[in-house]
Amino acid sequence: MHEILYFLHVSAMALWLGSLVALAWWSKSALQASDAGSRSWTLATVNRLTMRVAVPASALVLLAGLSMTATAGGAAAPRPFWLRLMEEGGGLLILASLFLVPWLSRRIRRAAEDKLAVQRAVRGYVAGMAVLAAGVAGVLLAVGLRLA
Ligand code: HEM
Repeated sequence: MHEILYFLHVSAMALWLGSLVALAWWSKSALQASDAGSRSWTLATVNRLTMRVAVPASALVLLAGLSMTATAGGAAAPRPFWLRLMEEGGGLLILASLFLVPWLSRRIRRAAEDKLAVQRAVRGYVAGMAVLAAGVAGVLLAVGLRLA
């Protein structure tokens, strides 16, 4: 069971981080769109993929991580710093992203009619994705270095 949860946790984390970077990049292409139709198609697709890929992937990282922690003796068992940082820092990051990402994504979808509003919303979306991706990379670095 632990192995399956581990696979789900790490695969969902790769999908989450990859989708944060790809969607932020793609949302910027709406700024170069020649007409309102292709701009709104780009933003609607970014919004759909955010809600159907990035958000469920982050929830799966959290659920699989919590299940592994529970099956490994729960939060009371002694754990190294990197594991505590991942569980507590990573858990908070995911919870924050579950509120932040749908909100940022809705903003870019709704702004599709107005060019100035699109610029503002895309800038906010890219900044939000960049902060989250940096947070995930920071957790990965702590895990990779096995910080004690
Ligand atoms: C930003 C969020 C997270 C990232 C980037 C992340 C990343 C990772 C990585 C790369 C591993 C494999 C570590 C290794 O064995 O070398 C791992 C394992 C694990 N993660 Fe996470 N994780 C995150 C959030 C969480 C959360 C929220 C929990 C629990 C509440 C959690 C619990 C675990 C557990 C229990 C393992 C197995 C550790 C072991 O058996 O060695 N993770 N995670």
